[in-house]
This record gives sequence, C-alpha cells and structure tokens, in this order.
Amino acid sequence: MTETVDWLVVAEIANLGPGDSAVFAYERDGMKRQGFVLRHGDEYFAYANCCPHWYVDLDLGDERFYDAAIDRIYCKNHAATFTPRDGLCDSGPCFGRNLERFETRVVLGHLEVLIGRARELSEG
Ligand code: FES
Repeated sequence: MTETVDWLVVAEIANLGPGDSAVFAYERDGMKRQGFVLRHGDEYFAYANCCPHWYVDLDLGDERFYDAAIDRIYCKNHAATFTPRDGLCDSGPCFGRNLERFETRVVLGHLEVLIGRARELSEG
C-alpha cells in the first residue's frame, strides 16, 4: 500500500512569536481535521488538535494551546498537560500518551507541516 504525503503551508513564521500558535485544517481518510503549530523558542512544533484522552479538541475552539507559565501545551477539557517539544502527556488522565506530531520545515518564510494521506482544504 502506498501512502501519499503532502507538505502543507500552515503559517508565515513572521506571524509566530515565541509561545504563539496557529491552527490549520487538513483532511485525512475523508474527514476534516484540525492541527496546530507552536513556536517554542526558535523552533516550531506541529500536532493534531486531538487529545489522546477523549479524542476531542484540546482548545475548546479558542485556538490557544500553550501556557507559558507552566511551559506546557494543555487540554481545556480535563487539564492534561503535554511537553511542547514532543507532545508527551506528563500530567492528567492520558499520562504517558502522546499528541500526534507532524514534521515541520521552513521554506522561504513559510512554515510547512508534513501530514500523511492529507491534502490541504480549499477555501469555502
Ligand atoms: S479530553 Fe483532554 S484531558 Fe480529557
């Protein structure tokens, strides 16, 4: 079985300060999904917006994923926390599980994310 992969342009790095995040949409297996990118220091990390506890959005729709005071990504449903650089849950009901992580790269000021079997959603 051949798996196709696509690099999706998800953000302009000039728009992402330290601790900032941005959401992006993608499709996999015929379903619309959402991910987010986080700038942590001078690096960028991308994850699916899907908590490994109940498989629901982490952010309850407000597009805020990171708390600098505790240096963690967090889930607003039951307060699970995840380390920003590998998405590992270090506290909460999904302790020891990971957010799905996507590879990132920067090309000419654009942040791109690699998602298997995904395609960028068209506008509208
Ligand atoms: S759904 Fe995220 S901690 Fe329960």
